[in-house]
Amino acid sequence: MLVSAKEMLQKAVAGHYAVGQFNINNLEWTKTILLTAEECKSPVILGVSSGAGKYMSGFKTVAAMVGAMVDDLGITVPVATHLDHGSYDACLQCIDAGFTSIMFDGSKYPIEENVAKTKELIAICKEKGMSLEAEVGAIGGEEDGVIGQGECADPKECKMIADLGVDMLAAGIGNIHGKYPANWAGLSFETLDAIQQLTGDMPLVLHGGTGIPDDMIRKAIDLGVAKINVNTECQIAFSAAVRKYFEAGKDLEGKGFDPRKVLKPGCEAIAETVKTKMELFGSVGKA
Ligand code: 13P
Repeated sequence: MLVSAKEMLQKAVAGHYAVGQFNINNLEWTKTILLTAEECKSPVILGVSSGAGKYMSGFKTVAAMVGAMVDDLGITVPVATHLDHGSYDACLQCIDAGFTSIMFDGSKYPIEENVAKTKELIAICKEKGMSLEAEVGAIGGEEDGVIGQGECADPKECKMIADLGVDMLAAGIGNIHGKYPANWAGLSFETLDAIQQLTGDMPLVLHGGTGIPDDMIRKAIDLGVAKINVNTECQIAFSAAVRKYFEAGKDLEGKGFDPRKVLKPGCEAIAETVKTKMELFGSVGKA
């Protein structure tokens, strides 16, 4: 069932669990995540970065593929197709393409401009029944060639953006995308707590879910995080499994060169990763 992320995240806040956003890269990724969500009876958010959208030939293709798959596979759990870290233009394109949710990453703009653009997009999303995620405080690491510094958002700015009527708010709390360096200081629960105190029931979003220790994830959920983004971890699991397939020479046995056979272990590894995350986030059985 294709829906916006609004209701599933409000339920997550009320029920003290988090919904996973898993980024998709192709048909196999999408199908695997959808089937795993259905098996776990968990709501799910499919994240699409602009780079991944372009790779899959465009946002329209992505929206059409997800819509058709939900239908063909008989997916009954709530599914949102969500633009990840969208520019203003990418947001407009995804609204047009039929996504159910967008993230406007206005963190590179001065706060006044971030506010103005966010307001405009909120108005369009409300009209279309879509949900919108805003970001305050750049989230570090590298994503689509953009490298930010892991920083902590200003809780007052978070409150200001939350009050505009966004459906979910991503705030930097020392998290970064990709693998965490050995000397990473960990999440700033002080910042998260201050943000939550000011923003109340606003679903908070934790980016950079890969490599955050389980106890920190649980504590973040306790403090109001209702959406957790995971991307790199699925990529690592996928490529490690496919590498094993080749290293074992399986592609040279019988029809082992069939792409469906080559990608199967990778898909199984993604499914395992997604399932483990859904269990950790507490979203299993919540659909
Ligand atoms: P990771 O790649 O670190 O899991 O982060 C994903 C993310 O935050 C997507 O927005």
